Amino acid sequence: MNLLIMGLPGAGKGTQAAKIVEKFGLVHISTGDMFRAAMANKTEMGVLAKSFIDKGELVPDEVTNGIVKERLAQADIAEKGFLLDGYPRTIEQAHALDETLNNLNLTLDGVINIDVNPDSLVERLSGRIINRKTGETFHKVFNPPVGDYNEDDFYQREDDKPETVKRRLDVNIAQGAPILSHYRQSGLVYDIQGNQDIDAVFADIADVVAKLK
Ligand code: AP5
Ligand code: MG
Repeated sequence: MNLLIMGLPGAGKGTQAAKIVEKFGLVHISTGDMFRAAMANKTEMGVLAKSFIDKGELVPDEVTNGIVKERLAQADIAEKGFLLDGYPRTIEQAHALDETLNNLNLTLDGVINIDVNPDSLVERLSGRIINRKTGETFHKVFNPPVGDYNEDDFYQREDDKPETVKRRLDVNIAQGAPILSHYRQSGLVYDIQGNQDIDAVFADIADVVAKLK
C-alpha cells in the first residue's frame, strides 16, 4: 500500500505518520526529515536546503524530486509500501511523482488530507518540542512527554519561529490547492478532520487506511 499524507505545517502529518507506519508497516518518507538530517550533517544539499528552510521557503523542485526519486527506488519500498509526508508540495512535484511511480511500476492507493483551521497552527508549532535522543515529537500543552521531563532533553525547530511560521503557512496555502485537485480528479483523496485530539484524528485515519488495505 502506497500513501501520501498532506496538510498545512503543524496539521499533524509527522505525528500521524509515526502512528500509521507503526500500525500498517509502511516506510515513512518525510522530505522535511531528510533535509533536517542533511542540514545536521552539513552536506552540500543540507547547506543549500537550509538557505530556503530558514526563510520558510520551499527547497527547489529539482533537488526535492531527486532525493524522493532515489529513495523510492530502494528495495524496501516495493516490499513494504510507503507513506510520503511533506511531498509533493508543488504541482510540479506532483507531476514528477506520477512519473517516478510510473517508472518504478508503483501505484498510489490514497491521499490522506488532514484538514485544519490555519488559526490553530501557530500555537501548535510554537509549542512543538522534539526529543534530542529519540526524535519523537511532542507538544508542551497538547501532547506533553509523560511524567516530569527535563526541558534540556528537547529542542524546538529553527523554522518554528513566528516569522518563519507565517511564511511557511502562506507558501503552503498557495501551493496546496492545485495538488489536492490533481489527486481529487483520480478519486484518491480522503479528508480527515484535523481539529480533534491526536488519538481521534488517528482513529479516523486508521479506518480509512484499513479499508484501503
Ligand atoms: P516539513 O518538515 O515537512 O514541515 P511542514 O510541512 O511545515 O510540517 P511540520 O513538520 O511543521 O508539521 P506536521 O504536519 O508534521 O505537524 P506535527 O505532527 O509535527 O518541512 C520543513 C521545510 O522543509 C519546509 O518549510 C520546506 O522548506 C522544506 N521542505 C520539506 N518538504 C519539501 C518539499 N516537498 N518541497 C520543497 N521544500 C520542502 O505536529 C505539530 C505540533 O502539533 C506538534 O507539537 C504536535 O505534538 C502537535 N499536534 C499534532 N497533532 C495535534 C492535534 N490533533 N491536536 C493538538 N496538537 C497536535
Ligand atoms: Mg512534519
